[in-house]
Amino acid sequence: MTTSRTLPMTVPAQDLPAQVRIHEVGARDGLQNEKTVVPTEVKAEFIHRLAASGLSTVEATSFVHPKWVPQLADAEDLFPRLADIDGVALPVLVPNERGLDRALALGARRIAVFGSATETFAARNLNRTVDESLAMFEPVVARAKADKVHVRGYLSMCFGDPWEGPVPVHQVVRVAKALMDLGCDELSLGDTIGVATPGHVQTLLAELNEEGVTTDTIGVHFHDTYGQALSNTLAALQHGVTTVDASAGGLGGCPYAKSATGNLATEDLVWMLDGLGIETGVDLDTLTATSVWLADQLGRPSPSRTVRALSVR
Ligand code: HMG
Ligand code: MG
Repeated sequence: MTTSRTLPMTVPAQDLPAQVRIHEVGARDGLQNEKTVVPTEVKAEFIHRLAASGLSTVEATSFVHPKWVPQLADAEDLFPRLADIDGVALPVLVPNERGLDRALALGARRIAVFGSATETFAARNLNRTVDESLAMFEPVVARAKADKVHVRGYLSMCFGDPWEGPVPVHQVVRVAKALMDLGCDELSLGDTIGVATPGHVQTLLAELNEEGVTTDTIGVHFHDTYGQALSNTLAALQHGVTTVDASAGGLGGCPYAKSATGNLATEDLVWMLDGLGIETGVDLDTLTATSVWLADQLGRPSPSRTVRALSVR
């Protein structure tokens, strides 16, 4: 395998941030949706390669119930294998105090709780109502903050829900504010099934600002089901957002929406940001080679347009 040296011409656009932090979710959000369980050594090599490509944040795994997400049941085995990775944040998902205990025991310094804007997804994902899940997160966030551990609050179904349909903006804002009131350092707005469009993104961001959630604490997490993930990202950048979640090679999906494709592919994002002259620290060739390598391990090609375009077999 070789990758071409093709890169986009850099032509900045007005009123966009100079720098974006990519929150890489492939090893967690991507691999949790794989039908087969990826061997721990492959996951460890994947994360090392992602870190070597210049990503500053690589979400590593989840300390959830192994029966709920068997694909990540090896968290105790995997996380210590990442101890030699220097200068790269390795957040892990933690739903409750049991998960926090497991993560802290291994020295995790960044965690993420994950709430839902809708009742149906809260029940299916966490076996709780929305308010019960917030109550479950409360001691997790409090203990993490007391220990100076960084806390991200994910919020799923911010734009639409496969069972409940469109999700009213005020409903999303209520749960977002509640997560921030618990003490989360940042909020990630999840378009879990990929139905958002750019005006909707900007409206939600403006409403959150109105209610006191500032743009510097907000990240965006788009899925590309309807091909809107990059347009939505650009809309968020225009609003001032500087944290964007993405998944190497476009890994991922949503087990509850058959038509849902993966997360925004990190390579597609980096191509756009490189073209805009926005700094990410990521080397696109190294990242693309990593996704091609992982696609070989998984036995199927990456869905990322950029990975496909840059890969010469
Ligand atoms: P539950 O069945 O209600 O759990 O599940 P429980 O609190 O009743 O406890 C039952 C048993 O599980 C107990 O054991 C606990 O100790 C054990 P017993 O006393 O019966 O022997 N247990 C655990 N064991 C290990 N680790 C734990 C843990 N917690 C309890 N952490 C629970 C509730 C939250 C645990 C479950 O629903 C769960 O694990 N859910 C996780 C689902 C998940 O990971 N989903 C994917 C992430 S969200 C996502 O991908 C969206 C995102 O990408 C953004 C977007 O796109 O929208 C973030
Ligand atoms: Mg996701």
